[in-house]
Amino acid sequence: MSQPNELRYRKFPMNNGRSIPALGFGTLIPDPRDTLRATRTALEVGFRQFDCAERYRNEEAVGEALQGALREGKIRREDLFIATKIWNNNHRPERVRPAFEASLKRLGLEYLDLYLIHTPFAFQAGDEQDPRDENGNVLYDREVSLFETWEAMEGLVDGGRCRAIGLSDIGLNELKSIHESARIKPAVIQVEAHPYLPETELLEYCKEQGIVLLAFAALGHGMKPGLLQDPVITGIAAREGKTPAQVLLAWAVQRGTALLTTPKTEAHAKESLDISPLPQDALDEINRIETRQRLNEVVKTGIPGFIPQGS
Ligand SMILES: NC(=O)c1ccc[n+]([C@@H]2O[C@H](COP(=O)([O-])OP(=O)(O)OC[C@H]3O[C@@H](n4cnc5c(N)ncnc54)[C@H](OP(=O)(O)O)[C@@H]3O)[C@@H](O)[C@H]2O)c1
Repeated sequence: MSQPNELRYRKFPMNNGRSIPALGFGTLIPDPRDTLRATRTALEVGFRQFDCAERYRNEEAVGEALQGALREGKIRREDLFIATKIWNNNHRPERVRPAFEASLKRLGLEYLDLYLIHTPFAFQAGDEQDPRDENGNVLYDREVSLFETWEAMEGLVDGGRCRAIGLSDIGLNELKSIHESARIKPAVIQVEAHPYLPETELLEYCKEQGIVLLAFAALGHGMKPGLLQDPVITGIAAREGKTPAQVLLAWAVQRGTALLTTPKTEAHAKESLDISPLPQDALDEINRIETRQRLNEVVKTGIPGFIPQGS
């Protein structure tokens, strides 16, 4: 018999012997003051898994919120799961450790629970996150392979201050290739996934290999019209006495994915943690949705889809 709060506290085991809380708070919030406020609220209402990135340019604000909660003794570091990601301009092996150390410093942490390669695309090495030629085209770095970057990430795990490594915005073939050659296998992949982009084949492969799939845009990025207005989702929500957001989040956890959502208000944050298991017929109904839509094109180019131009 499942407990009402069973999904809220669910964790998925990782291949390093540790586990990741199913419900994650994403920090892709353009304004640092909003980031600080929303991260504090997320901590207060009970989120314990946090997703950051050097590309979001707000790791200091996330760090300030985390440090505050740790200092006040409200939360212990070991109860938190903190991930961040290395950006495309830092793929050269010699740039990996400095990028990792810089993120740790901005977050004010001694170690990371997870470090991800943000996208498989290497941009021109240097401090410019969005290097472009005179025509505005992205400058890619063809001299470094994803596997070379991966080997440098393995070195971070050896160093002891990075507990797990993984990949983001990765397709099945690239994941297979890294997984087959890696000395330290990817623990987590972070990709867009929701009922309009279920990534079923990728999820099956991850389950077979013991990789956790961490789904971003779990609420379809809140786009309207979108998943939150889908008649199947709203119909189930009405039947189950839940909100459309709660239905989408429960579906994600029940199918075996960890997830990221970005509530910016306290009401949304509380609502998103208050999920309960859906009956099998509701899960089947969601799995039969035929609409297919990718919201973020970052997987095709390495150019972030949700970050406003010029930021
Ligand atoms: N790896 C990558 O390339 C990549 C790309 C994109 C995102 N991500 C990560 O994934 C995280 C989540 O992505 P996302 O922003 O697309 O998440 P999302 O949760 O799908 O969308 C966020 C939107 O949903 C709304 N919302 C949140 N809770 C709600 C609720 N209970 N009811 C109704 N609406 C609600 C928010 O509105 P309010 O603002 O009003 O709360 C916001 O507009 C990001 O922060 C980032 O960490 C990674």
